[in-house]
Amino acid sequence: MLNINSLTKVYPDGSRANDGITLVVRAGQVTGLLGHNGAGKTTLLHQVVGLVRPTSGRIRLLGRDPVADPAYARTVCSFQPQSHAPLTGVTARQAIEIVGRIRGGGRRAVQSRTTELLAALDIEEWADAPAERLSGGVRRLIAFCMAIVTPGRLVMLDEPTNDVDPVRRRLLWERIRTLAAAGHAVVLVTHNVAEAERTIDQVVVLNHGRVVATGSPADLAAGHEMRLELARPGGISTPEWCRAVHRDGDRMTMTLAAADASRAVAWALAHTARFALHSAGLEDVYIRLTDSGEGDRGAVLVS
Ligand SMILES: Nc1ncnc2c1ncn2[C@@H]1O[C@H](COP(=O)(O)OP(=O)(O)OP(=O)(O)O)[C@@H](O)[C@H]1O
Ligand SMILES: [Mg+2]
Repeated sequence: MLNINSLTKVYPDGSRANDGITLVVRAGQVTGLLGHNGAGKTTLLHQVVGLVRPTSGRIRLLGRDPVADPAYARTVCSFQPQSHAPLTGVTARQAIEIVGRIRGGGRRAVQSRTTELLAALDIEEWADAPAERLSGGVRRLIAFCMAIVTPGRLVMLDEPTNDVDPVRRRLLWERIRTLAAAGHAVVLVTHNVAEAERTIDQVVVLNHGRVVATGSPADLAAGHEMRLELARPGGISTPEWCRAVHRDGDRMTMTLAAADASRAVAWALAHTARFALHSAGLEDVYIRLTDSGEGDRGAVLVS
């Protein structure tokens, strides 16, 4: 669906927002683009839809060049921007339906899809309210509906879960999976890393404009350490399999190799009634890749 090769963007003030990015996005998959503030995620999406011109490198969208042909890019891509578009003088439902029609949807199809989306995200009560009166989270959900009411073959969502409550975030993640199941390629930027883990097929981690890891969430977490959390452990000595200890009030967290998991459980059962053993999740891996400076030393590519 989308092939990006050695893509670099240097803004006129010298900011190197993207630095040699190479990645592939496939139909029927959700690709999660993760990275700290300023890592270059929005810049990357803006180049695909022709809002920002690359400094160098190559983008191919279904084999065509969206930089040379941004009108083509906009027919193939649906895009939910990170910043709110001002919506005035229309209701939420009208805003969604107008975009659906502009993107080429038939009147009846757009109306029924709009009704379906409003119900699926549990925001029907605001459907006919003036858009300028909507809360931040509902506005974000309406923007999501606008992006997917007549979805392109590539759907790009820049932080769709920001400001959204936990229950509706779940509904939103389900809709994203539904899009992929229908054969759309989805590129999703999010800081809700732990939640996104269940939705994403392919993770791309950006750090200072560079790709520092790609792979499935399970691939990225494989081989990483496990965490043993203990509540009120009392005065115990550190066992030899423990690689690091972190104390926070009456909680204690030990990191260990996955191979030592059964020893750790036996030890924990002998020392405390309350403990939990976790395998590294995507969020742990992400923090390690972006905080430790590993990203600066070179790429970790899985699969
Ligand atoms: N128009 C611009 N002119 C100059 N620099 C810019 C411009 N837009 C973005 N940048 C810089 O490019 C870098 C990447 O910004 P970008 O918005 O792509 O990051 P991001 O990963 O989307 O961050 P966030 O998670 O905060 O949204 C930052 O250093 C930012 O300051
Ligand atoms: Mg951004």
